[in-house]
Amino acid sequence: MTMHLTEASAPVPAALVEDPLWWRSAVIYQVYVRSFADSDGDGTGDLRGVRSRLGYLKELGVDALWFNPWYPSPLADGGYDVSDYRDIHPTFGTLDDAEQLIAEALELGIRTIIDVVPNHVSSEHPWFQAALAAGPGSAERERFWFHPGKGPNGDLMPTNWVSNFQGDTWTRTTNPDGTPGEWYLHLFTPEQPDLNWNHPDVRREHEEILRFWFDRGVAGVRIDSAGLLIKDPALPEVPVDVAPGGHPTEDRDEVHEVYRAWRRIADSYEGSRVLVGEVWVPDAARFAAYLRPDEMHTAFNFDFMSRSWDAAELRDSIDLMLTAHAPVGAPSTWVLSNHDVTRPVTRYGREDSSFAFAKKRFDTPSDLDRGIRRARAAALLTAALPGSLYLYQGDELGLPEAELPRDVLEDPMHFRSGGIDPGRDGCRVPLPWRGTEAPFGFSPPEPGLNGTVDAPWLPQPAEWAKLTVQAQEADPASMLWLYRQALRLRKREAALGDGALTWLETEPGVLAFHRGERFVSVTNLGDRSVALPEHESILLASAPLDGGLLPPDSTAWLHRSA
Ligand code: GLC
Ligand code: MG
Repeated sequence: MTMHLTEASAPVPAALVEDPLWWRSAVIYQVYVRSFADSDGDGTGDLRGVRSRLGYLKELGVDALWFNPWYPSPLADGGYDVSDYRDIHPTFGTLDDAEQLIAEALELGIRTIIDVVPNHVSSEHPWFQAALAAGPGSAERERFWFHPGKGPNGDLMPTNWVSNFQGDTWTRTTNPDGTPGEWYLHLFTPEQPDLNWNHPDVRREHEEILRFWFDRGVAGVRIDSAGLLIKDPALPEVPVDVAPGGHPTEDRDEVHEVYRAWRRIADSYEGSRVLVGEVWVPDAARFAAYLRPDEMHTAFNFDFMSRSWDAAELRDSIDLMLTAHAPVGAPSTWVLSNHDVTRPVTRYGREDSSFAFAKKRFDTPSDLDRGIRRARAAALLTAALPGSLYLYQGDELGLPEAELPRDVLEDPMHFRSGGIDPGRDGCRVPLPWRGTEAPFGFSPPEPGLNGTVDAPWLPQPAEWAKLTVQAQEADPASMLWLYRQALRLRKREAALGDGALTWLETEPGVLAFHRGERFVSVTNLGDRSVALPEHESILLASAPLDGGLLPPDSTAWLHRSA
C-alpha cells in the first residue's frame, strides 16, 4: 500500500473517524452550490451561503453533503468543465472558505463529499491549452485524444460516435499557422475535452487530486461519469449489438483498475473515505462490478428513479437492485433526483411518470397535486429501503421543475438538442428561503460588495412564495416537516439504513415490507384506499389516513408488535 505524508500532519478530526460504516446507511444531501444560498448578493450561491445555512441542514437531519463541482470553471457545463482541481471558483469563494466549511460541517457531525470529474477537463485547463499550443505529434497532446481526420483532407471526424449531449464528439483544431488541424475527442461539449487515461500523467494527477482533498478532511468523492474513462484506442464505431464491455467508450473492463488504485488511496487515510460512482450502466451485474470490495463503496442507483409510479415496476426495481448488490456486499443507494433529472414532484404528476433523458420535452403537462402526493410517498418509501439515501436540495421543499423562459436557459443539453430538450436548468433554480417575492431570501436584502443585489442567476417562479423554508416551517403538513420527521425516525429506528428487507404479502398495487422485527413500511400505489397491515402504532404517514385506511399515493410507517 502506498502511504503518503499528510501536509503538516494535521490531526484528523474525531468526527471523521467515528462510525467507519457511516456510508452504508447515510443520508446524503446534494448541494448545488450555485443555487443553494448567496451570501454576497451577486445572484449566485456561494460557500459562505452554505456555511450560514449549516444549521438548517443539521435540523433536517442529514449525515453528509455532496457538493457539485466547486472548482474554477468557465461553467460551460455548470462546473463539470474544471480548469483547476485544487481551488474554488472565485464566485463561490476561496479554498479557505472550503476548508472552514468542511470543518464547521464536521463539528455538526456532517461529512463532506466532493465531486471529481476525471473523464474530461475544461478546454481552459492548462493541459489542454498547452496541447493546443504544442501542436500535432507533441507530448502535450498525448494526454488527450487528438487524432487526424479521415478523408483526403482530414475533414471527416475520426469516428461517428454520438455525444452524451447529442451531436458530434470530435472538434477540429486549427494549427498555429492557420491551417485546419487535428480533431480532439469530447464525449460531452467541445469545452470538455476527454483525457487519455492510458497516460501516466493523467492517472498520477488524479491520484494527487484525491490526496489534496482527503488531506483537507473530505470524507468522500463522487466520481463523475465514472464508466467512461477508458476508450478503445483503435477507435472503432459503436457496434450494432454491443457485447458486455465491447463499447468503445463505455464501461470497458480496464476502467476497474483506475478505481482499485483510488480505493488504495482512500483506504490509506484514517476514517472511512468513500468513493461514490456515477455509473450509468444498464446491466445490473456489470454495474455491481464497480462495487467489488476493492473498488468503489457505493454508486448511484438510477434504476429506481427512471421507473414509473407503479407498484410492480418499483418492486421489480427494488428487487433488481438488492439482488445485484448482494454478491459484492455493497449497500444500495436510493436516489429520487439530482441536478440532471426532472424534479420528482413534476415527474410523478405526469401521465408517463418514468424518466429518460431522451423523452424530455417542453410543456409536458403535470398534475402537481398528484405529483406532490406521490413524491411524499416516495420520500418515505425510499427512506425505508436498505442502504443510503440521497436527497437533492429543494426536494425537501417539494419544489417542482421550474418552467423557465427559453431566453434564460444555459444548459448545453438544451442547445445541443436543437432546442427540443428543455435541458436541466429547471431543476437548478435557486432555493426559496423566506419572504413573499424573489429572491425569497436566496440573496441578502442589502446590496452586496458591488453595491447592488443582482437577481438570482436563474429566475424563481412567483408561486414559490408558498414553498419557502419559512412558509413550510410554519406548516406541519409541509414537505419539509415530512422530511425532518422521516430522517429523525430513520436515525432512531435501528432497523433502517443498512440491512435486510422482507416483503409482506399484500394486494396488488401495494408495496409493504418489514425491516427488523417491528418496523413496517407500506405504500399504496393503487387507486383506492387500503387497510393497513396489522400494527401496534403508526409512526408517520405521508398523507392523512382515510378513516383508518391508507389513501392512494401514500406511505405509512408502522410498528407491529414484536
Ligand atoms: C455527469 C453530471 C452532469 C454533467 C456530466 C458531464 O453526468 O452529473 O451534470 O453534465 O456528467 O460531466
Ligand atoms: Mg454569491
